[in-house]
Formats: sequence, C-alpha cells, structure tokens
Amino acid sequence: MTTRSTVGDASEAVARPNFRPSLLTGLHYLSAWATAEVLWAVLRDDALLEALEEGVTLANLVDRLGQGDARAIDGLLTALRCEGIVAVDDGFWKLVPMTEELRVLRGWFEFFMDGYRPLFQGATTLARAGAGSVERDSLHVALGSAAIGEFDSVPLALDLIDRADKPGRAVLDYGCGNASYLTALCARNPEMTAIGVEVAEDAVRGAQAHVAACGMSHRISIVHASAPDYIPAVDVDFVVFAFVLHEIVGERGIGGTVEFLAAIGARFPHARLIIIEILHPVPEGKGDLLSHDPHGRGFYNWYVWIHTVTTQRLLGTSDWAQIFARAGFKVVDTQAADPRIDSTGLEIGYALEYIREG
Ligand SMILES: C[S@@+](CC[C@H](N)C(=O)[O-])C[C@H]1O[C@@H](n2cnc3c(N)ncnc32)[C@H](O)[C@@H]1O
Repeated sequence: MTTRSTVGDASEAVARPNFRPSLLTGLHYLSAWATAEVLWAVLRDDALLEALEEGVTLANLVDRLGQGDARAIDGLLTALRCEGIVAVDDGFWKLVPMTEELRVLRGWFEFFMDGYRPLFQGATTLARAGAGSVERDSLHVALGSAAIGEFDSVPLALDLIDRADKPGRAVLDYGCGNASYLTALCARNPEMTAIGVEVAEDAVRGAQAHVAACGMSHRISIVHASAPDYIPAVDVDFVVFAFVLHEIVGERGIGGTVEFLAAIGARFPHARLIIIEILHPVPEGKGDLLSHDPHGRGFYNWYVWIHTVTTQRLLGTSDWAQIFARAGFKVVDTQAADPRIDSTGLEIGYALEYIREG
C-alpha cells in the first residue's frame, strides 16, 4: 500500500490560513477520543472508580490498586485533572461534581465503544461496501442497550404494562438482548413467567447467564431464534419489542414488518404489544437536535448514522402509525422517556391492542 502526502510540502501547509485551526480542531477530537477511551477503562475498573468516587490520596490509591505503579497512577490522575474529570484537594483526588455520576454512564459507553466501535473504525469501508460489510459486537450492543435501558426504556415499558390494568401473567420479549426487561418485570410480579427470543447467539448466552444470576431460570426461558420465524405455542398477555422493530423493518422491510405484526395479532389477539422505539429526528421536525442539542449531538447524531450502515431503519411517528394500523392494531397508550434522562422526546413507548385480523 502506498501513502500519499495530502499536504504536499509541510512548510507550504503551515503557511496556509487554515493550518492552525485545522490542527486545533483535530487535536480537540483526539483529546475527546483519548478521554472517552480512558473513561471507559476507569468505568470497568471498580477499585479505581470506587476510590475516585470516595476521594483518595495517591499513596492510598497505589495501595488500593494492589501496589500499583505510583508514576503511572500519578500520570493518570494528572491527565484526568487537566480534562476536568477529577480535582485534587488537600492531597485527595476525587471526581468533580460534573462527573460524580460517571458510574451510571456505563451503558452509553459500552453501547458505542464496545458494541459499535468496529463500525466507527470501518466508517469508510461501510461507505463503500454498505450496510452489513462491518459487523457490530452484538453482545456489547445488547449489554450496553440493557444498561441504558435500566434508566429509560425499562421503566417506560413497566409503566405501559402497569397502566394496561390487565391481569397479565405471561410475557414474550422479541429481541430480548440480555433479558433485563424480563427480569425487571418478573421481579415486580411474582406470578409472571416469560419467554425471551433473541437472534444473536452471544446475547442469548448473556441473557441465560443474567436470568440465572437473578435466580429466575424456572420462570424465564430464552429461545435462540429469529423474530418473524418463531412464534411460541403458549399464550402470552404482553409482547415486548424494545428497539427491535426497527431492526425487523431493516431486515424485512415495511411490508414484512406489517405481516409479522399481523401474524402476532392473529396468534395472540388478546395480548397487548409494548413497543419501544427511537423516532427518526428528521421526519419529527427535530433534525436540528443532531447538531445543536447536547443529547442530540452527544448520542443521537452517531446513533442515526449507525442506522444507515446497519440493517436497521429508524422511522417517524407517522410511519409507525401506518404500520400499526395496517397490521390491525390501534395505539391505546404512548409515553416518552423520562425527560430527566432524555429531553429530546425521541424515545417513545407505544401500547397496542389488536382490533382486527389481517
Ligand atoms: C438494540 S438491541 C435491544 C435489546 C433489548 N431489547 C433492549 O432493549 O435492551 C436489539 C436486539 O434485537 C435482536 N434482534 C434483532 N433482530 C432480531 C430478530 N429478527 N429476532 C430476534 N432478535 C433480533 C438483536 O440481536 C439485539 O439483541
């Protein structure tokens, strides 16, 4: 492979007016990238994270990290201080108030940095070879999604189920990821039983491990299957699709998704469907959020890009309304995610009831 200098003569480049602004812009992104990598490492290191949450001297931290390398630890703390992540007061190093809640960000970091990192790194391959040419890490996508979901989508699904005021006892979750919706539901309802369906083999193993760790293997079964092709024989009262229907739209198209939902309606006519989705900001008239809103730019800008390079398709409210109606369902309840977590209004939960066959 040959490399071509894109700047020509370096001294000429330096003389150009945008040399320095470009350099500083690049360095700004490099520092953001390096900081994100280090934060993700800190988030996975319980001993270090706990110490920084409590406040710790260098000597104590060296001790707590099992006789760690004092020079390396000092270097890490100093760099984190320069990034405004920790502060030192009277010899004690501690997370500053703006990062005090770092621990809760685990899911967001895992989702992007371990789940979708191959796509970010392969952005130009994807631009040439298209969706599917670079694989995501589905286990970390599922784990990250589940960890984020503890804050937004799981409570949203639980609210929609509670408000149904339906004595439901059996739940089916398509694309269950690590099965955290099912363990949360079963923990709240001792009578409940559940089936999780998941296509990714490593996510299936993660779900089985999570269910076992919660002591719920006798109430929750995990099936390794693909959603439209598998419909269980037993009856269920709720069918959950959390961030999965847009994958089915990507895989089978709008017509295939309508057919699938219609089949679910015909098979479980008395079940309530609980659907959690992210609305595409552009048809919602919220495209500006992607560049101007901290949550919009910080998360959804690249989230929307991810959906253009994977077999997933984000839709707007009116597309979903048409799909539900064509499949024979009516929307009986909706709720946005808690605005304390996500104020964009893009994350939405629907409760649907089946009103006709076909
Ligand atoms: C974004 S994750 C969401 C996981 C989980 N529902 C949650 O909200 O945390 C989407 C999941 O759907 C699974 N999935 C995608 N298409 C599927 C299909 N056709 N059948 C079953 N699972 C599917 C993926 O493997 C992935 O685990």
